Amino acid sequence: MELNELQKKILKLKQEKNALLLVHNYQIPEIQVIADLLGDSLELCRAAQKVEDIDMIVFCGVDFMAETAAILNPDKKVIIPSVKAVCPMAAMLSMDTLMEAKKQHPEAPVVLYVNTLAEAKAEATITCTSANADKIVRSLNAEKVIFGPDKNLGYYVQKRVPGVELVYVPDDGHCYVHRFIGNGDEAIKLKKRYPGSEIWAHPECEPEFQERADYVLSTGGMVRRAKETDAEVIIVGTEVGLIDRISRENPSKMFLPAKKYSECSAMKRITLENLYQALVEEKPVVIVPEDISIRARLAIERMLEAS
Ligand code: 13P
Ligand code: SF4
Repeated sequence: MELNELQKKILKLKQEKNALLLVHNYQIPEIQVIADLLGDSLELCRAAQKVEDIDMIVFCGVDFMAETAAILNPDKKVIIPSVKAVCPMAAMLSMDTLMEAKKQHPEAPVVLYVNTLAEAKAEATITCTSANADKIVRSLNAEKVIFGPDKNLGYYVQKRVPGVELVYVPDDGHCYVHRFIGNGDEAIKLKKRYPGSEIWAHPECEPEFQERADYVLSTGGMVRRAKETDAEVIIVGTEVGLIDRISRENPSKMFLPAKKYSECSAMKRITLENLYQALVEEKPVVIVPEDISIRARLAIERMLEAS
């Protein structure tokens, strides 16, 4: 892809300011191609943990991802180009719900998806992402685990770690984009139209669709599977930004959305224009209060050690 003038200006400014550009797989393709690191939540967490010799992190993703980068780098400036890039699932877990569950089940460790706000992470035993949730829960060897906020990710974990009882916080936390994909009827129709094709679902998808999919994968898992598979047509059950990436990286294969228009509006709040502006002004800066940051960091670091 030939770079446009704005992309070139961003790259130049990024270099002048010694900034690192971390980009989630759901961002628009024009931002994906200028990333220093393009990845899933876990890969971006790992990259943020290893940051050295840079003056600033620019995070193109949603609020909880940028907060995580700030928590892992308390001495660095972390900026997010739009304060409106807010993941509604992360906002679904209230502190009241979480604290009540901890009171009701004092013996149970708390496993929180990284799609939570920093305040909630500060109350967690350990965090997880869609790439490691089953491994993290298994590693605790617990009979009961408080788990949230994504109930569908909980279903994915429960199937792979059947001995454990999950107490969901909240009762019905979910991602509206993956819920919109539904039970996979459209994907099944596409699979019939393209014999030999594969269906993938993200663990945030509804249980019925997870059951009908050939693979249930994080976005990073999808990037790897896209390279490995011999299938020529793949039906992808996640946010459509990921399809831009894997189509660019695997031009001989055809990737179709499991449901058209499965787009995360929070992710799409970030544009080349506000990214450029954020670099010029070095704001909006992501601020996490120190007492919260110190405790949240423990939960994130435990996850990074365990996975
Ligand atoms: P991944 O960690 O699989 O990239 O998922 C992040 C996310 O927000 C999915 O909706
Ligand atoms: Fe949040 Fe869903 Fe968007 Fe992921 S796709 S950032 S979970 S709203």
